Amino acid sequence: MERPHIFAHRGASGYAPENTMAAFRKALEMGADGIELDVHLSKDGHLIVCHDETLQRTTDGMGWIKDLTLEEIRKYDGGSWFGEGFQGEKVPLLEEVLDLIQPTKVLLNVEIKNGIVIYPGIERRVINLIRRYALEERTIISSFYHHSLVESKKIDPLIKTGVLYVAGWVEPWEYARKLQADALHPAYHNIDAAFVEGCRTYGIEINTYTVNEEIDMKRLAGIGVTGIITNYPDKAICMVHQLHGNAAEIK
Ligand code: G3P
Ligand code: CA
Repeated sequence: MERPHIFAHRGASGYAPENTMAAFRKALEMGADGIELDVHLSKDGHLIVCHDETLQRTTDGMGWIKDLTLEEIRKYDGGSWFGEGFQGEKVPLLEEVLDLIQPTKVLLNVEIKNGIVIYPGIERRVINLIRRYALEERTIISSFYHHSLVESKKIDPLIKTGVLYVAGWVEPWEYARKLQADALHPAYHNIDAAFVEGCRTYGIEINTYTVNEEIDMKRLAGIGVTGIITNYPDKAICMVHQLHGNAAEIK
């Protein structure tokens, strides 16, 4: 059985403020196979890396990203809330993260945060940027807003997509196929061997979130999920090496 890819959720967000360059650098230092991040569009059309639609929770600023320009967003401190050592971290642009990972082999999971706010044309902007950095083969686009996945496939049928959802679907691989998606991105709690088998039969990958406890990481790796999305990539990498040995190379 192949080992799962370990994705750092919002970067190594157990150790650094989520969705900041500090968290992405930490993920690379820890040897994560990939990073997961969230994108929105600013008022002036920039791809902004942030989880929430507003800045209140993760910066010392406030307001909706859709109503703010890049210049306004960049005034705020996105690190102090997490700890003193992170004072001055800015809310990143997607292209800054691509600058960081482009020279590496790291995989990228871009979650398009359409839904509460609808950002017109965000899919094309994301795909254009990924193409500019020649990262198409290392990227998977996911979203809870599945229209964004359909739109992404219309723009580029070769770009990989992953269907984000929480739980409880019957034969979700059928739905993934209908959307021409490459992967399911479910919450991890209900994933079992039968689920993995169903996905395997249909050629659908499983990248599951947000797996922070070693016991869950081990169980999921043991039944053969393709990806584990975690705030603690170091813990997951250690687990993978225990299960598969140090030679567990990423395919
Ligand atoms: O992509 C997995 C996970 O990030 C989805 O939930 O709320 O952390 O963006 P959330
Ligand atoms: Ca996310």
